[in-house]
Amino acid sequence: MNEPQYSSEEVASILKIIDDLNTLKDVDTILDRILSESRRLSNADAGSIFLVQGKELVFSYVQNDMLFDREKGRAALYQNLTVPISNESIVGHVAMDRKPIVIEDAYDLPAEVPYRFNTSFDEEYGYRTVSILTLPLLTIENRLVGVMQLINAKDKDNNVVPFDERNQVFVSFFANNAAVTIERGIMNRELILRMMSMAELRDPSETGAHVQRVGAYSAEIYERWALNRNLDDKNIQATRDLIRLAAMLHDVGKVGIADSILKKPGKLTDEEFDEIKKHTVYGARLFTSITSELDQMSLEIALNHHEKWAGGGYPGPVPELDDTCDPLAPPKQGDEIPITARIAAVADVYDALCSRRSYKEPIDQDKVHQIIRENSGTHFDPEVVEAFFQIIDVIEAIREKYQ
Ligand code: C2E
Ligand code: SIN
Ligand code: SIN
Ligand code: FE
Ligand code: FE
Repeated sequence: MNEPQYSSEEVASILKIIDDLNTLKDVDTILDRILSESRRLSNADAGSIFLVQGKELVFSYVQNDMLFDREKGRAALYQNLTVPISNESIVGHVAMDRKPIVIEDAYDLPAEVPYRFNTSFDEEYGYRTVSILTLPLLTIENRLVGVMQLINAKDKDNNVVPFDERNQVFVSFFANNAAVTIERGIMNRELILRMMSMAELRDPSETGAHVQRVGAYSAEIYERWALNRNLDDKNIQATRDLIRLAAMLHDVGKVGIADSILKKPGKLTDEEFDEIKKHTVYGARLFTSITSELDQMSLEIALNHHEKWAGGGYPGPVPELDDTCDPLAPPKQGDEIPITARIAAVADVYDALCSRRSYKEPIDQDKVHQIIRENSGTHFDPEVVEAFFQIIDVIEAIREKYQ
């Protein structure tokens, strides 16, 4: 058997892509890029990534250009699906064995293999999976991070063909070098969740799930808003990557607020509410030694997520982030509020309305939608509200995923 040959240009181009991956911070953006590049290298129609969590594989990312309209595809990302690491499924088997499996036709597996092809996806979406390449994602130190599955390789004439050995070796080389960036992305998100669990001790409403939802809503609303404005893809992806993490930190300043106020079961007095308002400034102060774009955006969102589009929000202009701000200065409004914070505001209020709080019960969806609509143009930027309702199915998929 001949080893497939690669030109040094090919290898260099892969190393360049891996280098680019290292600029990304959030695990979703990293998975998105790894899947796109792997599909490009093998000319595959579709693909998904499962990540290892304990004894299970958790479905973590999917792309299928042939199948979905955009919003359906985004919603599919937030499916809750786990597969045991065992011989019964293809991905489970690859996780056990740590070797790729190449399948010519998913519906015509050799009789002797222990695994079965799971037809539920094809059935649900009316798709026909034929050729499959399933690969373990292993770090250089041989840690198993997850499993990637590529589906339906195409030839130049767009006919489905088997994945050849060249594909297999080429994609494996790329995927295994990329695996460590996935680990780093997971670590970034966990670091933020751990940071927020401090705030959660203080304010039980700021749970990990709330924080994950606000991050995911913000990323999805941002992307829709940016597409509506025809921003270019590279910009969109970079900002989307950051906003997901920065929005998770919107309320980190609540660590500075006394329990007696934060956990108060009933309505706050004006004095107490004035105290709570400071969580915006406390949060922003954590990021003032700005060393990265993520710090910059986290500061913006923490400081401005309670400003209102037509004015009347808080904290207003706080130039030095100290306590000397002029209480008579008019609060920010409109474009003075960074877009990232205008987006996080809708995400945060939507989530607060849907959730139980120490001071309120959850509100039902129709009423929540009505409140968001009614506050378009007053509390919220109308363009952001429009983007929000355009992707309402995605929003609901996120709400289901992080309960
Ligand atoms: P939070 O609970 O995360 O709420 C975030 C924002 O969602 C609120 O910002 C408000 O704009 C919106 N929101 C939450 N619940 C409702 C609701 O029932 N109806 C409507 N129309 N909007 C709602 P806001 O008001 O600036 O409050 C900031 C934070 O202050 C809240 O974060 C919460 O931690 C605290 N807070 C506000 N009001 C009370 C209260 O009456 N009692 C207590 N214990 N805490 C409060
Ligand atoms: C699944 O989608 O459940 C896993 C697919 C497979 O069988 O490999
Ligand atoms: C407010 O009074 O500003 C909260 C109402 C809302 O934004 O839905
Ligand atoms: Fe807040
Ligand atoms: Fe919040």
